[in-house]
Amino acid sequence: MNRHPVILAGLILTLFAIAGSGLVAFTYWQTADRIAQNERDALLHQLHVLVPSGDIDNDIINDTVTIQAPDLMGHAKTTLIYLGRRGGKPVAAVFSQVVPDGYSGPIKLLVAVKMDATLGGVRVVSHKETPGLGDLIEERKSDWIRGFTGKSLSNPEISHWKVKRDGGDFDQFTGATITPRSIVKAVKNTLLYFRDHGKKLFEQGETLEKEKKPAADEHG
Ligand SMILES: Cc1cc2nc3c(=O)[nH]c(=O)nc-3n(C[C@H](O)[C@H](O)[C@H](O)COP(=O)(O)O)c2cc1C
Repeated sequence: MNRHPVILAGLILTLFAIAGSGLVAFTYWQTADRIAQNERDALLHQLHVLVPSGDIDNDIINDTVTIQAPDLMGHAKTTLIYLGRRGGKPVAAVFSQVVPDGYSGPIKLLVAVKMDATLGGVRVVSHKETPGLGDLIEERKSDWIRGFTGKSLSNPEISHWKVKRDGGDFDQFTGATITPRSIVKAVKNTLLYFRDHGKKLFEQGETLEKEKKPAADEHG
């Protein structure tokens, strides 16, 4: 008889444990979709800052191509590129790339290049640079990153794609040269890649799009 309270307490504890785990699983299940959707919305917002939605009519988030260019693209094995088109014609490519040589670690960037080989813009997606020093690369902390918009390999000329400290045209920050240097190099390398492969990217994208469609579509 004395064992009943112990068994009852054990049962209650077990029920609480099951209910607790269930609640956690349910909350995760409920929020995972919403988190993914929020991330997607944030990405789309950033893409549209760089490539205005009025300039393109395709589903840029799902029109992508992956390249392997470790020398130019910060030694990342692959780089994802979002392709903006209007009426099927190429408008801009947005490179989602990781700059490996930031001061405190990798810096994730979006670099948009228009078909005339000028920059639609550059934005920092994430970084671990020091607050007050390297973090001036963030759009909300300074104008520096906006300075890339409209630039190209002829404006300034290639040899000037460096920070001023290294003889180039781009400002460094007071007491922080490493962070801006790494970004200027990465953006220049993106422009070099686009100069040599830009048009082909869109053809690859088209091939991939066609491959995704069922065979029936292909034949009529
Ligand atoms: C605690 C600490 C944090 C730093 N963070 C950064 C940083 O985020 N980005 C950066 O470029 N330099 C940073 N620096 C400065 C670099 O060590 C280096 O001195 C500087 O980038 C070189 O630029 P300068 O030649 O203009 O001084 C930091 C230095 C210290 C001591």
